[in-house]
Amino acid sequence: MDRAVLRHRQRWGTPEVVGRAPGRVNLIGEHTDYNDGFVLPLALPFDTVVAARRAPEGSSTEVFSEDFGHAVLAPSTAEIDPTDWAVFLHGVHRLLHAEGFRPGPWRATIATDIPAGAGLSSSAALEVAVVSTVLHLAGGELSAAEVARLCQRVDNELVGIPSGIMDQLISAAALAGHACLIDCRSLHVEPYPLPEGSVVAVIDTGTRRQLVDSEYADRRAACARAAAAMGVGSLRDAELADLERMPCELATERRRAHHVITENRRTADAAQAMAVGDAAALGSLMIASHDSLRDDYEVSGPALDQMVEIARGSAGCLGARMTGGGFAGCAVALVQTEAATEFQARVAQRYRDESGLDAEIWLCDPAAGASTTSGAGVVNAAR
Ligand code: GLA
Repeated sequence: MDRAVLRHRQRWGTPEVVGRAPGRVNLIGEHTDYNDGFVLPLALPFDTVVAARRAPEGSSTEVFSEDFGHAVLAPSTAEIDPTDWAVFLHGVHRLLHAEGFRPGPWRATIATDIPAGAGLSSSAALEVAVVSTVLHLAGGELSAAEVARLCQRVDNELVGIPSGIMDQLISAAALAGHACLIDCRSLHVEPYPLPEGSVVAVIDTGTRRQLVDSEYADRRAACARAAAAMGVGSLRDAELADLERMPCELATERRRAHHVITENRRTADAAQAMAVGDAAALGSLMIASHDSLRDDYEVSGPALDQMVEIARGSAGCLGARMTGGGFAGCAVALVQTEAATEFQARVAQRYRDESGLDAEIWLCDPAAGASTTSGAGVVNAAR
């Protein structure tokens, strides 16, 4: 936050408002959000921060990012170049303008400590942080669910990424100290505290996704075909028994649907385990989730599988799995607090020995969702 404010002061003067939004890790409920299902993510203590102020009438709307440089935003309808670093900023600016949130020209400075490309939702955090900040400048108010929907529309309609709603909604709505069970159909968010004596470890394998956007779209399409074959509107409404009705030639779709149906059940069970503080049960469900993602949904990858094996075999580990879209990036583990520091060192060492790669392991307290700070103090960006 200090960096964004300092840079903004140097370039454009004291900011009127500073917005922030966190990255996320998902404990369980993977590839269920676009099937109207359940997810159980938490916000990370990594943020994207946006310091902003209105500019005189007639000036352009400009953004400076510490990492990427300068961009001028215009509410034109010309196609957005998907390779432009500022693609999400252009998208957010256009949609806010189209929705009538028009504070006039503004200037913003952006800084982040969310590791990029690791699958910790740095782009959703950027969208939510900018939307929260510009809403403040425009005197507008939206609920967390409305902010998330708007940001998802930026992805789906303007940037061309067919993402679900999980990343944007947890970034907007998270509660510190809690993971949130999100019903991706109703967008109801229910917070659950982490079981006492356990801590969440986010483990970056140091590998990055390549050319897998088509895999995500492929899984979405397979789920839609499976739902149609079973005669349900979405896989949220399918039962295991319905799988029997799928024709043999849809064997792949059946496995994808099997993952989604069982993952929804595991996610509801995980929330129950959290409600009674049962860390062991939560850990077991995370293990089952990884196996299902690896075998039925086929979105894990060699580094993720290797890391999950190493984590599961380490003292104090209650459960571990890949997290997010998959293929590379991060795993998440639930670890006994008393063993956590040792776990961090051991897992990093074994991974280095076995793969030759360096992992980063963070022990994370769940953070709060987006907020803005102005002369009036800190307010939750989304109400
Ligand atoms: C990505 C998407 C989310 C969700 C996950 C998988 O992070 O952005 O909407 O689908 O993958 O659970």
